[in-house]
Amino acid sequence: ETRRYFAAGLLEWYDRNKRDLPWRRTSDPYHIWVSEVMLQQTRVDTVIPYYFRFLEKFPDVEALAHAPEEEVLKAWEGLGYYSRARNLQSAVREVHERYGGTVPDRKEDFSSLKGVGPYTAGAVLSIAYNVPEPAVDGNVMRVLSRFFLIEDDIAKGPTRVKMEKLARELIPEGEAGSFNQALMELGATVCTPRSPHCLTCPVMERCRGRLEGRAEELPVKTKA
Ligand code: ADE
Repeated sequence: ETRRYFAAGLLEWYDRNKRDLPWRRTSDPYHIWVSEVMLQQTRVDTVIPYYFRFLEKFPDVEALAHAPEEEVLKAWEGLGYYSRARNLQSAVREVHERYGGTVPDRKEDFSSLKGVGPYTAGAVLSIAYNVPEPAVDGNVMRVLSRFFLIEDDIAKGPTRVKMEKLARELIPEGEAGSFNQALMELGATVCTPRSPHCLTCPVMERCRGRLEGRAEELPVKTKA
């Protein structure tokens, strides 16, 4: 019951409060993939202009597959973590050669591509194809640890696995893309690391972290 309350509350809130972001106006799996790779270590505001410029230069799988690496790195300049760009191009080349340019919609296929970890796989598959896979990043772990009062150290691998299992079980039928984005959005805009905006949270009434006065202490994280 609490799980349904959580999922329904988030979905309804997301529907009314989601930010109008460029990658939320597309259903192109390649475009969504590019956005998720850029968003991994970079803030939304920084990503937006890069997202537009990158897709102007490389609008589809074919274009990125055939581009000289040097051009790709140039378009990435300023975003940092250049291995992200190299891995993306390498993965896109494989999609071009092996899947005829169609981004695979099976977890096993997509996850085996270079640079695609569990977060990226879950995010792209759920947002682009509505595949019921979780997309657990730092924001999502913060939200889940607070609402369900999970005190495990999020720096530890088994904690991430536990969070992924919980997040998978929470996905409402047919709503994977919206639900995962709702979780990310709540973490980014309401359930913030410091001074969370609990009074505007759609699920505050049953948030164990808030009810026990411990929201701001969570998540527990050892290593810096
Ligand atoms: N961070 C990671 N993925 C995101 C998305 N799809 N929208 C906004 N912020 C994000």
